[in-house]
Amino acid sequence: MSKQLLAGKKGIVFGALNEQSIAWKVAEACVAEGAQIVLTNAPVAARVGQTEDLAKKLNAPLIYADVTKMEDLENLINGSMEALGGKLDFVLHSVGMSLNVRKKIPYTELNYDYMHTTLDISAMSFHRLMQVLWNKDAMNEWGSILALSYIAAQRTFPDYSEMAEAKALLESFARSFGYHFGKHKKVRVNTISQSPTKTTAGSGVGGFDSFFNYADIMSPLGNAPADACAEYCISLFSDYTRMVTMQNLFHDGGFSFTGIASDLMDNFKSE
Ligand SMILES: NC(=O)c1ccc[n+]([C@@H]2O[C@H](COP(=O)([O-])OP(=O)(O)OC[C@H]3O[C@@H](n4cnc5c(N)ncnc54)[C@H](O)[C@@H]3O)[C@@H](O)[C@H]2O)c1
Repeated sequence: MSKQLLAGKKGIVFGALNEQSIAWKVAEACVAEGAQIVLTNAPVAARVGQTEDLAKKLNAPLIYADVTKMEDLENLINGSMEALGGKLDFVLHSVGMSLNVRKKIPYTELNYDYMHTTLDISAMSFHRLMQVLWNKDAMNEWGSILALSYIAAQRTFPDYSEMAEAKALLESFARSFGYHFGKHKKVRVNTISQSPTKTTAGSGVGGFDSFFNYADIMSPLGNAPADACAEYCISLFSDYTRMVTMQNLFHDGGFSFTGIASDLMDNFKSE
């Protein structure tokens, strides 16, 4: 169903770890839509992930970068512009990690060293990336920068723990840096707030399977799958959304605006 919406565009896709990764689907869709891309992931992904397989499949350069390191991001942006032969039209930040969640530490007992790392990897990295893009004047006019978020930034989902704060910060960076990028460089910055999705990061959250099923029932269209998220990303990289910026856009089958689902109400009928 390719419409070549990204023909002639160049971009970077972060975070394709394995076939389940949302970024994996986005990378495939970008290339199918005519874009040239560079893939990037944390150096450790070389050992634990399959990013290299995707790079081979898509014939895309792969430049490893730890998003907590300024010099890695500088090297990535320089290397990408060199490999792609010019400035960038789009960037996807699809990166998240919480050590407190991974180690199953209760929210009321969080370790602050771990929290620093969580906020650094999952949120500050977005600012750091945008600062490097800004300083190197690496984005073409009417380009698009996008990050993936989750509704726990607005509403409490207890098992999501400190990632809720990370996503709130991420969305705020999209608004604040989005102002500067829009005003001075005609570049848009948005976040997509995606449904629960069965990936390595998603499945790390406690009670994920039950919550996935709950969200599926609560969403009139059902949970949005990773493929559909990729298509939404394509629309936001395309020229059809050039005036959309500083937004957090829900891609969740209607979950965010549903109060109660009739299927669930049946469980609470009085005798
Ligand atoms: N899966 C879900 O339910 C869901 C829902 C909403 C939003 N999201 C968001 O989507 C994004 C992608 O996650 P996913 O679900 O595809 O899982 P994933 O585990 O496939 O992707 C997370 C990626 O972050 C990368 N990463 C971690 N630390 C890094 C570092 N220091 N430097 C560079 N990269 C690093 C990992 O290598 C991995 O590729 C994340 O921001 C996540 O919070 C996921």
